[in-house]
Amino acid sequence: MSHSPLIEKYLTQLQALALSKQAPILDLACGSGRNGLFLIANDTPVMLADINSEALERVKQSLNSLTAEQQKLAQYWQEDFEQVGTTPLQGKSFSAVIVFRYLHRPLFDQIKTAIKPGGMIIYETFTEQQAQFGRPKHPDYLLRSGELVELFSDWKILHSFDGVVSASTNDDSKQAIAQIVAIKPD
Ligand SMILES: C[S@@+](CC[C@H](N)C(=O)[O-])C[C@H]1O[C@@H](n2cnc3c(N)ncnc32)[C@H](O)[C@@H]1O
Repeated sequence: MSHSPLIEKYLTQLQALALSKQAPILDLACGSGRNGLFLIANDTPVMLADINSEALERVKQSLNSLTAEQQKLAQYWQEDFEQVGTTPLQGKSFSAVIVFRYLHRPLFDQIKTAIKPGGMIIYETFTEQQAQFGRPKHPDYLLRSGELVELFSDWKILHSFDGVVSASTNDDSKQAIAQIVAIKPD
């Protein structure tokens, strides 16, 4: 799967934020790193975080095709973000946080705090409507209608979407997703 069009659309802003705030972008639950790798290939520092050490190892290998300077822009963070009683993002600071296809509601407050003032959130994941198309089906992993907009209502919302999109260019399968891009108040 290639990087999200949202990352490409907001690339210039993400690059400027990482530079001006002197802090990397967190790709939370990065998986194969499709989005973080795109940012690194565009000379932007990224912290790639996931519970899965093999996924992080694969990300590292994918970086081999980039220049030595670009490879230095990557940091790796293997972490279980769902451990009860822990606050993994506490004390961390990022110019932006990007989260795609992952939801663990107890992290929302920590994510908001970890983004520097003036920094950006890009969040995209499945909504309750997804249950009619396939996985995930459990409500814990599905956003409620309007949930992202409500969560970031005190931020400057640059983009929001809640609806059904094509899941693949090869067939007519569908996915129900919500997206938000927002700037934290200064
Ligand atoms: C559907 S994948 C999305 C990957 C990537 N964000 C993307 O859009 O391509 C979900 C990711 O969440 C990670 N994940 C699941 N539970 C996690 C946890 N407790 N802590 C950290 N990462 C977790 C998985 O390892 C997997 O890489």
